[in-house]
Amino acid sequence: MDVRELLKQNEQADLLRFSTAGSVDDGKSTLIGRLLHDCKCIYDDQLAAVHRDSKRLNREEVDLALLTDGLKAEREQGITIDVAYRYFSTPRRRFIIADTPGHEQYTRNMATGASTADLAVVLVDARHGVVIQSRRHAFIAAMLGIPHMLVAVNKMDLANYSQQVFEDICADFRDFAAKLGIHDIAFIPMSALRGDNVVERGTAHMPWYEGVTFLHHLENLEIAGDRNLIDFRFPVQYVNRPTSDFRGFCGTVASGVVRVGDEIVALPSGRRTRVKSIVSMNGEHEYAFPPQSVTLCLEDEVDISRGDMIAHVGNTPRVRSAIQAMVVWMGETPMRLNDAYLVKHCARTGRGIVSSLSYTVSPRDLHRETKDTLELNEIGRVTIDLLTPIACDTYNRNRTTGAFILIDPRTNQTVAAGTIIDRAGQPGTGTAAPAPVSQNITREGSLVSAELRETAFGHRAATVWLTGLSGSGKSTIAKELEWQLLEQGVKAYILDGDNIRHGLNRDLGFSPEHRSENIRRIAEVAQLMNEAGLVVLTAFISPYEADRNQARAIIGDERFLEVHVDTPLDVCESRDPKGLYSKARAGEIQGFTGISAPYEPPRDPALRLDTAEADLDETVASVLGLLRDRGILPL
Ligand code: ADX
Repeated sequence: MDVRELLKQNEQADLLRFSTAGSVDDGKSTLIGRLLHDCKCIYDDQLAAVHRDSKRLNREEVDLALLTDGLKAEREQGITIDVAYRYFSTPRRRFIIADTPGHEQYTRNMATGASTADLAVVLVDARHGVVIQSRRHAFIAAMLGIPHMLVAVNKMDLANYSQQVFEDICADFRDFAAKLGIHDIAFIPMSALRGDNVVERGTAHMPWYEGVTFLHHLENLEIAGDRNLIDFRFPVQYVNRPTSDFRGFCGTVASGVVRVGDEIVALPSGRRTRVKSIVSMNGEHEYAFPPQSVTLCLEDEVDISRGDMIAHVGNTPRVRSAIQAMVVWMGETPMRLNDAYLVKHCARTGRGIVSSLSYTVSPRDLHRETKDTLELNEIGRVTIDLLTPIACDTYNRNRTTGAFILIDPRTNQTVAAGTIIDRAGQPGTGTAAPAPVSQNITREGSLVSAELRETAFGHRAATVWLTGLSGSGKSTIAKELEWQLLEQGVKAYILDGDNIRHGLNRDLGFSPEHRSENIRRIAEVAQLMNEAGLVVLTAFISPYEADRNQARAIIGDERFLEVHVDTPLDVCESRDPKGLYSKARAGEIQGFTGISAPYEPPRDPALRLDTAEADLDETVASVLGLLRDRGILPL
């Protein structure tokens, strides 16, 4: 069964949510009005009202902006958020527009309206070019992980329909977008007022533009592939027990696909069982995928309650008691550090404390600032300590399980929306590397996204970090793995201790400090190779837990798979492939791991291999299994 095919046919894939935002005079209302008018989506009575109002206001032409200017204020948890949702459809697709006004409450409104959008439409006034407002919109869209962006370069009629003006704006915007890691971005020159390139083509005025119209873009944007169909996540919204012999867990599939018979695990309890049946209003199903709402019935009576998370065995979210996140502050009162808030994550609400604010970031120029608190509409990076642990993913991996809101328990108002960026505060977590020595350096993004690379390569990137004593079999396993991966078409490469010490790390010995630097450099190289899309296999003793944790921090939690090659010392010593153990015993080598220097075994490796028990094929098969379970390789 091809799930993507299925999704395409599914009506949900034919629904496109997009956000628009902008200031009063950039023509946004006219654009939406024009869109609705030209695809004949306005009800006649509304149109009549617009004609009437236009006359009353002595406008020369029918002012389509009057259609959307009457935004209703919505009340959400007590705070006023101005987001107007408009619904319309064409024969090809249904649309929901989340339209936010551009006044000072802008950030908060936009974060609310755009949080579920597939596409962000950024309006640029051709006369003014890329202004702060456009940058802000792009920044928030990127932070919210909106997969696609369309830059509508409007008011081309007031810029002489100039191709040069259009191209300059595109170049300027691309520059900024690259820094934000926005990957899919399209540009359309238009005049909403005259109707050029909105629904009808504007060939008469802009013969140089060969691209599609706004509506064509909206109708044809490919979004089925944006869904995460790999990592199955099912937040339990409630437990349904109508009779004593039926118990089902109800919720919406947040990501991934679940099938009858799948082995699942409930978090945080860690209890395992299998899916007995999948039920919805339409009867029983063989499988379910996002965003279907279903009831899962399980084979065994496991204790699962509202707020728990169900996932596949081997591909689970992380259970965290502290998270690092970017938050948009939406509260009227500033953030209180070290005070309790309610953290609503998926179907669970628990208490949490914002324990630190690392920096705030300005959407205008991406400049970072150190501040004591966050105020309304500000964005910052925080650490939140949770009293009830949550099962979460990072936001770039999962827009549902990686997002949360903060509620002020004193007022019951939503005061922040957050996106989880990485883990923090776990026992044994290495701290991130110190800041670079150089000043005035910035990171450059790439036009090729990780997702694009994954699609091109047919697999995800990861680092299989083999750790274990000298002679434990790390290199042997890595070599066989590399071979089998390449045979399957997976782009893989080995980084091996002895080899790297001949080149990149030839200045390093075996003191704890040198070993630490050895591992740090390898981790940086592995990280770059992962960025390039490769599966990296490392074979280093890496005896110190802190060093391995630092490697994890550098490579990223999701890509770092710690595998302990747990061969007993006596077996390694009897193998002694390089004759080093006997030299070490004879005192000819100082500080030899296992003999005269420590080895700290991983406490919670992704996999433990005992080469004394299992043969090479079995060992390699279990690493391949791990890579499949974690969604790195296709199933
Ligand atoms: S690590 O500790 O820094 O991770 P690494 O994996 O790069 O070590 O290098 C280990 C290899 O170096 C061993 O397999 C062995 O061949 C060689 N070696 C030489 N001296 C030592 C030593 N004192 N301790 C461990 N390995 C050593």
